[in-house]
Amino acid sequence: KSLVVAIDGPSGSGKSSVSREVARRLRAAYLDTGAMYRAVTLHCIATGVDLHDGAAVEAAARDIELFISTSPDRESVTIAGDDVTAAIREPGVSSSVSAVATTMGARAELIRRQRALIAGAGHRIVAEGRDITTVVAPDAEVRILLTASEEARLRRRGDQLGGTQTDAQLRRQVTERDAKDSAVVNFQQAADGVVTLDSSDLDFEQTVSAVLGIVRT
Ligand code: CDP
Repeated sequence: KSLVVAIDGPSGSGKSSVSREVARRLRAAYLDTGAMYRAVTLHCIATGVDLHDGAAVEAAARDIELFISTSPDRESVTIAGDDVTAAIREPGVSSSVSAVATTMGARAELIRRQRALIAGAGHRIVAEGRDITTVVAPDAEVRILLTASEEARLRRRGDQLGGTQTDAQLRRQVTERDAKDSAVVNFQQAADGVVTLDSSDLDFEQTVSAVLGIVRT
């Protein structure tokens, strides 16, 4: 039986770690769609594609030989067989990824691949990103917008990066990227039928339990 759990939210909402754990507990697959935008961004940088050239970015999204693991227990992204799992998290990719995310032709291509991955997992999957509840899988059985206050999001992202960033750097990375992304995808407000879960005052385990509670209702 089909069980697609679609989770959207801004940076630092805890989306990725929570979604992965929810997938494990449900014995479902897991899809990190942000990793796909990151992979296309890295590929453009590595092959000298101008990120401001929409047609070239779209072509890169179409032609990239991209593999992403949908096992919640195995994080793996490869481009033409090269392991880029760690490289796509580098700050240079984070600061450029919005250029790919705002290229509509590239989005269309990635959305097509994401739907194929969901189908390939037999529609038993937790998929997370910015437009999963609204565009990629609007007919998902469960749709959640995971939010958190700006303060909580900055704190989490800071912890994730091991305290290596100043407050100003963090603010730039988190808040500015969300502002750029908001221009094309609305993940700040829940669409009709989407449940909002505010994790500001919840720890990891409580957030996982809250999501599982929504899945079971
Ligand atoms: O680092 P963070 O968890 O905030 O982001 P991510 O999930 O790794 O996604 C990286 C970027 O990909 C986002 O900032 C968006 O620009 C883009 N993205 C998107 O446009 N649509 C999605 N469904 C997922 C990610």
